[in-house]
Amino acid sequence: MRLSSIVLSDEDATARLGAQLAPGLQTGDIICLEGPLGAGKTTCARGLIKAFCGAREVPSPTFTLVETYQSDNAALWHFDLYRLERPRDVYELGFEDALGDGICLIEWPQRIEGLLPPERLRLVFHIPQGGGRRIDIEGPEIWRQRLAATGLI
Ligand SMILES: Nc1ncnc2c1ncn2[C@@H]1O[C@H](COP(=O)(O)OP(=O)(O)OP(=O)(O)O)[C@@H](O)[C@H]1O
Ligand SMILES: [Mg+2]
Repeated sequence: MRLSSIVLSDEDATARLGAQLAPGLQTGDIICLEGPLGAGKTTCARGLIKAFCGAREVPSPTFTLVETYQSDNAALWHFDLYRLERPRDVYELGFEDALGDGICLIEWPQRIEGLLPPERLRLVFHIPQGGGRRIDIEGPEIWRQRLAATGLI
Protein backbone atom coordinates (compact mmCIF):
# COMPACT_ATOMS: atom_id res chain seq x y z
CA MET A 1 0.00 0.00 0.00
CA ARG A 2 1.31 3.47 -0.92
CA LEU A 3 1.63 5.47 2.30
CA SER A 4 3.31 8.57 0.95
CA SER A 5 5.23 10.06 -1.96
CA ILE A 6 7.97 12.57 -1.20
CA VAL A 7 10.02 14.81 -3.50
CA LEU A 8 13.66 15.26 -2.45
CA SER A 9 15.34 18.19 -4.17
CA ASP A 10 18.95 17.38 -3.30
CA GLU A 11 21.29 14.97 -1.52
CA ASP A 12 20.78 16.64 1.88
CA ALA A 13 17.04 16.12 1.64
CA THR A 14 17.61 12.42 0.98
CA ALA A 15 19.87 12.13 4.04
CA ARG A 16 17.33 14.03 6.16
CA LEU A 17 14.60 11.60 5.19
CA GLY A 18 16.76 8.78 6.58
CA ALA A 19 17.49 10.77 9.74
CA GLN A 20 13.76 11.36 10.30
CA LEU A 21 13.07 7.64 10.23
CA ALA A 22 15.75 6.72 12.75
CA PRO A 23 14.20 7.68 16.13
CA GLY A 24 11.11 5.51 15.72
CA LEU A 25 12.88 2.32 14.70
CA GLN A 26 12.71 -0.81 16.82
CA THR A 27 14.13 -4.31 16.79
CA GLY A 28 12.46 -6.41 14.10
CA ASP A 29 11.93 -3.53 11.66
CA ILE A 30 12.88 -4.08 8.04
CA ILE A 31 13.39 -1.07 5.79
CA CYS A 32 13.94 -1.87 2.11
CA LEU A 33 15.65 0.69 -0.12
CA GLU A 34 14.71 0.05 -3.75
CA GLY A 35 15.38 1.82 -7.03
CA PRO A 36 17.99 2.00 -9.79
CA LEU A 37 21.75 2.39 -9.46
CA GLY A 38 22.65 5.82 -8.16
CA ALA A 39 19.12 6.58 -6.94
CA GLY A 40 20.15 7.68 -3.44
CA LYS A 41 19.64 4.52 -1.36
CA THR A 42 23.02 4.70 0.39
CA THR A 43 22.64 8.45 0.92
CA CYS A 44 19.38 7.80 2.76
CA ALA A 45 20.91 4.88 4.71
CA ARG A 46 23.83 7.12 5.80
CA GLY A 47 21.47 9.78 7.13
CA LEU A 48 19.51 7.12 8.99
CA ILE A 49 22.55 5.37 10.49
CA LYS A 50 24.21 8.61 11.60
CA ALA A 51 21.03 9.62 13.39
CA PHE A 52 20.58 6.10 14.78
CA CYS A 53 23.95 5.71 16.49
CA GLY A 54 26.07 8.78 15.82
CA ALA A 55 28.41 6.89 13.46
CA ARG A 56 30.79 9.28 11.68
CA GLU A 57 31.79 6.94 8.90
CA VAL A 58 29.12 4.92 7.14
CA PRO A 59 30.84 2.94 4.38
CA SER A 60 28.68 1.59 1.59
CA PRO A 61 28.42 -2.20 1.94
CA THR A 62 28.96 -2.51 -1.83
CA PHE A 63 31.69 -5.15 -1.45
CA THR A 64 31.27 -6.37 2.13
CA LEU A 65 27.49 -6.77 1.49
CA VAL A 66 26.76 -5.99 5.13
CA GLU A 67 27.88 -3.51 7.82
CA THR A 68 26.59 -3.55 11.39
CA TYR A 69 26.01 -0.76 13.92
CA GLN A 70 25.00 -0.60 17.55
CA SER A 71 23.07 2.12 19.38
CA ASP A 72 22.39 2.11 23.13
CA ASN A 73 19.49 -0.27 22.77
CA ALA A 74 19.44 -1.84 19.31
CA ALA A 75 21.61 -3.29 16.57
CA LEU A 76 21.26 -2.22 12.96
CA TRP A 77 22.33 -4.28 9.95
CA HIS A 78 22.91 -2.42 6.67
CA PHE A 79 22.85 -4.78 3.70
CA ASP A 80 23.64 -4.03 0.05
CA LEU A 81 22.64 -7.17 -1.84
CA TYR A 82 23.41 -5.95 -5.36
CA ARG A 83 26.31 -8.40 -5.64
CA LEU A 84 24.61 -11.32 -3.92
CA GLU A 85 24.83 -14.28 -6.29
CA ARG A 86 22.10 -16.56 -4.92
CA PRO A 87 19.29 -15.62 -2.50
CA ARG A 88 20.32 -18.29 0.02
CA ASP A 89 23.81 -16.75 0.30
CA VAL A 90 22.23 -14.02 2.44
CA TYR A 91 22.18 -16.46 5.36
CA GLU A 92 26.00 -16.52 5.32
CA LEU A 93 25.85 -12.78 6.06
CA GLY A 94 24.00 -13.33 9.34
CA PHE A 95 20.58 -12.55 7.92
CA GLU A 96 18.78 -14.78 10.42
CA ASP A 97 20.34 -12.98 13.39
CA ALA A 98 19.55 -9.66 11.78
CA LEU A 99 15.86 -10.57 11.41
CA GLY A 100 15.73 -11.99 14.92
CA ASP A 101 17.24 -9.24 16.99
CA GLY A 102 18.14 -6.31 14.80
CA ILE A 103 16.86 -3.53 12.59
CA CYS A 104 17.48 -4.34 8.90
CA LEU A 105 18.19 -1.74 6.27
CA ILE A 106 18.39 -3.47 2.91
CA GLU A 107 19.55 -2.04 -0.44
CA TRP A 108 18.60 -4.22 -3.43
CA PRO A 109 16.08 -6.35 -1.47
CA GLN A 110 14.87 -7.67 -4.85
CA ARG A 111 17.79 -10.13 -4.64
CA ILE A 112 16.01 -11.99 -1.79
CA GLU A 113 12.41 -11.16 -2.59
CA GLY A 114 10.87 -14.44 -1.38
CA LEU A 115 12.80 -14.40 1.90
CA LEU A 116 11.41 -11.11 3.22
CA PRO A 117 8.44 -10.86 5.60
CA PRO A 118 5.44 -8.86 4.36
CA GLU A 119 5.54 -6.31 7.21
CA ARG A 120 8.54 -4.54 5.73
CA LEU A 121 8.57 -0.83 4.90
CA ARG A 122 9.65 -0.08 1.30
CA LEU A 123 11.26 3.18 0.20
CA VAL A 124 11.13 3.11 -3.60
CA PHE A 125 13.42 5.68 -5.20
CA HIS A 126 12.74 7.26 -8.59
CA ILE A 127 14.91 9.62 -10.65
CA PRO A 128 12.60 12.11 -12.37
CA GLN A 129 13.60 13.73 -15.70
CA GLY A 130 13.88 17.16 -14.15
CA GLY A 131 16.39 16.16 -11.45
CA GLY A 132 16.14 15.46 -7.73
CA ARG A 133 14.49 12.29 -6.52
CA ARG A 134 11.00 11.04 -5.70
CA ILE A 135 10.46 8.42 -3.04
CA ASP A 136 7.33 6.36 -2.75
CA ILE A 137 6.86 4.94 0.73
CA GLU A 138 5.01 1.65 0.66
CA GLY A 139 4.08 -0.77 3.40
CA PRO A 140 1.31 -2.28 5.48
CA GLU A 141 -1.21 -0.07 7.28
CA ILE A 142 0.60 -0.50 10.63
CA TRP A 143 3.39 1.73 9.31
CA ARG A 144 1.05 4.67 8.66
CA GLN A 145 0.81 5.59 12.34
CA ARG A 146 4.48 5.04 12.91
CA LEU A 147 5.40 7.31 9.99
CA ALA A 148 2.97 9.92 11.21
CA ALA A 149 4.86 9.93 14.51
CA THR A 150 8.10 10.74 12.66
CA GLY A 151 6.44 13.66 10.87
CA LEU A 152 7.00 12.04 7.48
CA ILE A 153 3.30 11.80 6.56
N1 LIG B 1 17.51 14.05 -3.77
C1 LIG B 1 18.59 13.99 -4.56
N2 LIG B 1 18.70 14.80 -5.63
C2 LIG B 1 19.79 14.72 -6.43
N3 LIG B 1 20.83 13.87 -6.24
C3 LIG B 1 20.76 13.02 -5.19
C4 LIG B 1 19.66 13.04 -4.30
N4 LIG B 1 19.86 12.11 -3.35
C5 LIG B 1 21.04 11.53 -3.63
N5 LIG B 1 21.59 12.06 -4.73
C6 LIG B 1 22.85 11.67 -5.39
O1 LIG B 1 22.72 10.43 -6.02
C7 LIG B 1 24.00 9.83 -6.15
C8 LIG B 1 23.97 8.36 -5.85
O2 LIG B 1 23.60 8.19 -4.51
P1 LIG B 1 23.76 6.80 -3.74
O3 LIG B 1 25.14 6.30 -3.78
O4 LIG B 1 23.13 7.04 -2.42
O5 LIG B 1 22.86 5.83 -4.66
P2 LIG B 1 22.48 4.30 -4.46
O6 LIG B 1 21.03 4.20 -4.76
O7 LIG B 1 22.96 3.80 -3.15
O8 LIG B 1 23.29 3.58 -5.63
P3 LIG B 1 23.73 2.03 -5.74
O9 LIG B 1 22.55 1.27 -6.28
O10 LIG B 1 24.84 2.09 -6.76
O11 LIG B 1 24.18 1.56 -4.40
C9 LIG B 1 24.94 10.61 -5.22
O12 LIG B 1 25.80 11.39 -6.04
C10 LIG B 1 24.00 11.51 -4.43
O13 LIG B 1 24.58 12.74 -4.14
MG1 LIG C 1 24.13 2.15 -2.59
